[in-house]
Amino acid sequence: MSWSHRRGRILVALTTVAFTLPLTATASQATTAPSSPAPAPYALVPQPVSEQAVGGPGFALTPQTRISVLSRDSQAIGVGTYLSKLLAPATGYDLRVVKDTRAPKNAVVLDPNGPKNLGAEGYTLTSDKNGVVIRAHGAEGLFRGVQTLRQLLPAAVESRTRQTGSWTVSPVQISDSPRYEYRGVMLDVARRFFPVDQVKRYIDEAAAYKINTLHLHLTDDQGWRIAIDALPDLTRIGATTQSGFTGGTDWYYTAADYKEIVAYASSRFMTVVPEIDGPGHTDAALASVPGLNCDNKAKAPYSGFDVGISLYCLEDGTHTGNVRRFLNTVIKEVAKLTPGPYIHIGGDETPDATPEEYAAYVKAATAATVGRGKTVMAWHQLGQAPIPAGSLLQYWGEDDDRESIGTSEESDSVRFVRNGVAQDAKFVMSPSDHAYLDMKYDVSTPYGLSWSGYVPVQRSYDWDPATITGKMDGTGSLVPAKKIAGVEAALWADRAYEGSGSLPTPNTNWPAPQAYADYMSFPRLPALAEVGWSPQSARDWNGFRQRLAQQGPRWTAAGIGYFAAPGIPWPGTVTTVEGVHAIETGGVALENGGSTSDGSELLLWATNRGDNQTWTIARQSDGTYTMTNKRSGKCAEATGGAGAAVVQRACNGQTGQRWKITPGDNDQQIIASAGSGLVLTAASAANGAKATQQPDTGSALQRWSVD
Ligand code: ACM
Repeated sequence: MSWSHRRGRILVALTTVAFTLPLTATASQATTAPSSPAPAPYALVPQPVSEQAVGGPGFALTPQTRISVLSRDSQAIGVGTYLSKLLAPATGYDLRVVKDTRAPKNAVVLDPNGPKNLGAEGYTLTSDKNGVVIRAHGAEGLFRGVQTLRQLLPAAVESRTRQTGSWTVSPVQISDSPRYEYRGVMLDVARRFFPVDQVKRYIDEAAAYKINTLHLHLTDDQGWRIAIDALPDLTRIGATTQSGFTGGTDWYYTAADYKEIVAYASSRFMTVVPEIDGPGHTDAALASVPGLNCDNKAKAPYSGFDVGISLYCLEDGTHTGNVRRFLNTVIKEVAKLTPGPYIHIGGDETPDATPEEYAAYVKAATAATVGRGKTVMAWHQLGQAPIPAGSLLQYWGEDDDRESIGTSEESDSVRFVRNGVAQDAKFVMSPSDHAYLDMKYDVSTPYGLSWSGYVPVQRSYDWDPATITGKMDGTGSLVPAKKIAGVEAALWADRAYEGSGSLPTPNTNWPAPQAYADYMSFPRLPALAEVGWSPQSARDWNGFRQRLAQQGPRWTAAGIGYFAAPGIPWPGTVTTVEGVHAIETGGVALENGGSTSDGSELLLWATNRGDNQTWTIARQSDGTYTMTNKRSGKCAEATGGAGAAVVQRACNGQTGQRWKITPGDNDQQIIASAGSGLVLTAASAANGAKATQQPDTGSALQRWSVD
C-alpha cells in the first residue's frame, strides 16, 4: 500500500494528556529489548561510538578551573575561548583560557595533538574527579568534544542567566567519531526571511548536536535573499516579498551580513552551502531581471504559496545566453563570499521544462560553478542531465520511490538517482518523509505540510542512510555506501504560519521565524543529527527516546521552544493511560482503517493521530479499561483465542471489551484482554499489519506507547 492511502484520510486535531508532577529528572534508563545495544551511562545525543562510565565522583568546576589548551594553534585556543564563554552565563565563572605544554590539575584540558587516526572530527574525552581531557587531531575534533562535554554537565548550564548549583562533569571515558562527514541542516530563508541574529542562533542550536553544514536556500519564487552588486534589482525588487508578506525593504543579506554568517558558522566549525535555485523556483529573479523572461518583461514579485510556477526562459539561444550570463554573474559573487567547497544550484521541481531546457540550465549553472573552483551540489533531479563527476546530489525522495524500485514503473526520482550514480555523483540523504522538518509531526501540528506524510520523531530517527535509496526491505540501495556523504535535515518555510492546513487569512498567526524553527526542529533535528553521526549499531529508538527526553530540560534552559512530542518520556511529566490517546508500537498506531462497522478488524498504520487512531481509554469499576475509537465510537474487542483478530464493536461492557493495562519497561504498556489474558500484539510494524491477541513473549510488538 502506498502513503497516499494515509494522506487521503480525514484528520482532526487532538490534545495529548500529560500531567506535570513535581518530579526531578530521572537518569536515563537503558532499554531491555533483547536486540538493543548496550545501555549508555549518560543521556548523550548523538550517541558516541564508545562510552564507558568511570567510577567515583565527577569533576567539579570551580571559578579557579583553567581551560588549558596544549597548543599555540589559534583555532584550538579559539575552542577554549568558546568553551569559557559558553559556560560563563549559567555558572557565573570567567574561566581562564591558558596555553600550556603539560596538562595542569583542576583543568579542562584541550589537546589538539591527538593521533591522526581520530580524523578531523573524532575525539576522546576522559573525565574523572581530577579533571577533563579532550584530545583530538586538530581544533575541529576538540569542538565536537566540547559539545559532548556540555551534555555531561547539568542541564542548567545551558541557561543564559546565572544559576545556582554545582557544576560537576559526569565521570566517563568516550571515544567518538562521525559515521558521515556531511551532517547538514537547510534553512529556507527565501520563503521566510531569517534575520542574521536568528541564523546565528540556529547555527548554535545545530552545532550543539555536531551538525557541520548550514545549507542556506537563498533564492526561490518568494524571495531573493543575497545582494549581488552587479544586479541590484535582485534585492531591490526580488527581496520585497516572502510567503504571505509584501513590502520588505531589508529582507536580504548584504555581502557583509553573509560574511558575518559565514564567519560565525566557521567559528562553530560549520560550512555554509549557498543555494541559488533554478531553473524553477525563480520568480524572484524573473521579477527582477526582465531578460530572464521569454517576453523580456519582468514578472510581478510573488508572495503566494504555490510551487512549480516558474522557469527561466531557455527556449532560444538569446535567452539561454541571458541565463548563462546571469548565472555567471551571480555565482561569481556568491563563490567569492563563500569559503566552503560547494555551490548548490537547485534543479528541483521544473514541471514545465523540456529535457533540452533543463540540460541548458544545468550546463550553464555547472560551468559557472566549476569555473569558480567550486563543487556542484544540487537536488537529485540534476542527475537527469550531464553533470561533472564528483557532484554532490541531495536525495529528497520518499517511500513511494523506494516501492517503485525494480518495477516496470520506476519513479523519475529512481531514474535520476541511478543516472547520478552512473555519473560518479556523491549523495546527501534528505528523504522528505524522514528529514523534512517542515512536515507536520502529526495532525495537531499547527505549522507545515504533510504531502510526504506526517513525520513524528520516531520517523525522523528510524531510518538508515545506507538503505534509504533501496527497496522497502532494505536491499538494493541505489547509492553505494561509499558514495554516501551524509545526511541533511531541511527546514522549508513556505507554511510557517498557524493553521497551515489551509491558506492564511488576515488574522492568521505568523510566528517569529525562530519560534517556527525551534518547534519544527526540536526534537527532530537532534534525531537526524544522530542518524548522521552515530554508528547504525549504536542506534535504537527505545534507547534514543530515553536519551532524547533528557535533552528537554537543556532546551528549556536554553530558551528553545521545542515540541514536547508524545512518546518521549520527558522528565517531570507522566502520561496516564486514562484519557484520549494514540496507542503505538514501532512507529505504527492501532486504528480501524476508517471503518465504522461492527466486527471490522483493527490494524496498524503509520502514526498520524487522526480520528481513526484516537482512542478514549476509560477505567472501569473492576480496574480494567475500555478503549473507544473516536471515528467509529466503537470499542476494541478481543475475539476467540490466541492469534484471533482484535475487532471493534458497539460498546457493550462485556469482558471481551475489557483490557488490563499494566506498565512494561520504558513507559510502555502491556494491554491484555481481561477475558483471555492474551496480549494485544501487532503482526509487524508495517502499514496494514493486523492486531491480534497472543501469549506475551515480551516482543516489542506487544509493548505499546499510550500517549
Ligand atoms: C524540494 O523539496 N523541492 C527540494
